[in-house]
Amino acid sequence: VELAGLVGGGSVVGIDRDPEMVRRADVRAAEAGVAARVGHHQGDAGALPFADDSFDAVRCERLLQHVADPAAVLAEMVRVTRPGGSVVALDTDWGSHSVDAPDVLTERALARTLVENSLTNGYSGRRLYGLMNAAGLSGVTVEIIALTFTDYVFWRLITRQDVVEEDAELAGFVEAGALGRWREEMLRKDEQGTFFASVNMVLVCGSKRGAHA
Ligand SMILES: C[S@@+](CC[C@H](N)C(=O)[O-])C[C@H]1O[C@@H](n2cnc3c(N)ncnc32)[C@H](O)[C@@H]1O
Repeated sequence: VELAGLVGGGSVVGIDRDPEMVRRADVRAAEAGVAARVGHHQGDAGALPFADDSFDAVRCERLLQHVADPAAVLAEMVRVTRPGGSVVALDTDWGSHSVDAPDVLTERALARTLVENSLTNGYSGRRLYGLMNAAGLSGVTVEIIALTFTDYVFWRLITRQDVVEEDAELAGFVEAGALGRWREEMLRKDEQGTFFASVNMVLVCGSKRGAHA
């Protein structure tokens, strides 16, 4: 919907494999009055239902952290971009995620569980620069966008801490006692208004080679 304002008289196509995401995106496009120029389809990013060289620009956001073969998805994005067109990926480097906590061992164990056990491709953000270059894109640029969290409840939701804590315990990375003390400490910080966590997003852009001068 936001891209609709950037493409002049052009059109925007979005895909997601989840039909509910597609339905909600269509509702938002209609509410924003751009449905005629913004279409959403159910589809797999690893097998895009579009012809080669058919888009001026292709982007994905917080997608590659969820896929097992990000190079295959990026190859599809490059395939459907016209020569000279832009390919953009924004993703989280969950390895840069940190929480202000006195018990650093538990903090590190939970942070590592989130990256390695609770996500398919949790280090995605830091790998984008290499991935874009390996895909043959030219003029690859990178920008870091730091996110901060001071709302404990929101942070737990975004980082799916319930799942992470369960995964960490199952994997034997943290003991129940340490986890209990960690939760108490985080609740105390929440009450005091001193909870703080941060993570980097990595934004990488490149151009498809082959444009004629
Ligand atoms: C964190 S959400 C980001 C959604 C959207 N890019 C945004 O910025 O709001 C990740 C989305 O990727 C979708 N997804 C995961 N794997 C996919 C795949 N192989 N093909 C298409 N969509 C996929 C999920 O259904 C989910 O909606």
